[in-house]
Amino acid sequence: MALRLGDTAPNFTADTTEGQIDFYEYLGDGWGVLFSHPADYTPVCTTELGAVAKLKDEFTKRNTKVLALSVDGLENHKGWISDINETQNTTVNFPIIGDQDRKVSELYDMIHPNSSENFTVRSVFIIGNDKKVKLIISYPASTGRNFDELLRVIDSLQLTANYSVATPANWQQGEDVVVSPGIKTEDIPSKFPKGHKVIKPYLRMTPQPDL
Ligand code: BEZ
Repeated sequence: MALRLGDTAPNFTADTTEGQIDFYEYLGDGWGVLFSHPADYTPVCTTELGAVAKLKDEFTKRNTKVLALSVDGLENHKGWISDINETQNTTVNFPIIGDQDRKVSELYDMIHPNSSENFTVRSVFIIGNDKKVKLIISYPASTGRNFDELLRVIDSLQLTANYSVATPANWQQGEDVVVSPGIKTEDIPSKFPKGHKVIKPYLRMTPQPDL
């Protein structure tokens, strides 16, 4: 059955380019991004994996580990990593699952048969430090992902896990946030001492509380 937001992310063991991994052990008490790509030695995927490698420090800052997957085998992955390193001017610094038996792809519903019987789509799962699924996005094969957007979502998820706020459209770190509807307007000053604006009774803004 397809996973949904709030579900527990299923654990698995898998062979990867960095040895066998138990997903939960790999994540430890941190956050995770599990993402699939359609196939090795393809142009868009090459740029995507290079982009993720370059963002390693940003993921680490957010206590987040990344794990890639395709249904190609490990020998293919290893040869392709050399090409990614060469062409994207980086070093792939995260494991890639060789999911030839489709165990993980099927567990996470990454094969969408009406798109392709044989390949995973570009699925992304963000997993919280409570092992719950926090975000699911599926991109088509022809569209490379925006990994800065995934970092932005992780920032929002980590902020809103700790404060009674939500982040508005196109929010970026440092910008004002929305006070959660469950907070009464008269309680805002004690909870958000940096100030607030009541734009409408249901739309109350406050400076980002963790800065
Ligand atoms: C790519 O990663 O470049 C790609 C994969 C499948 C179809 C089209 C492009």
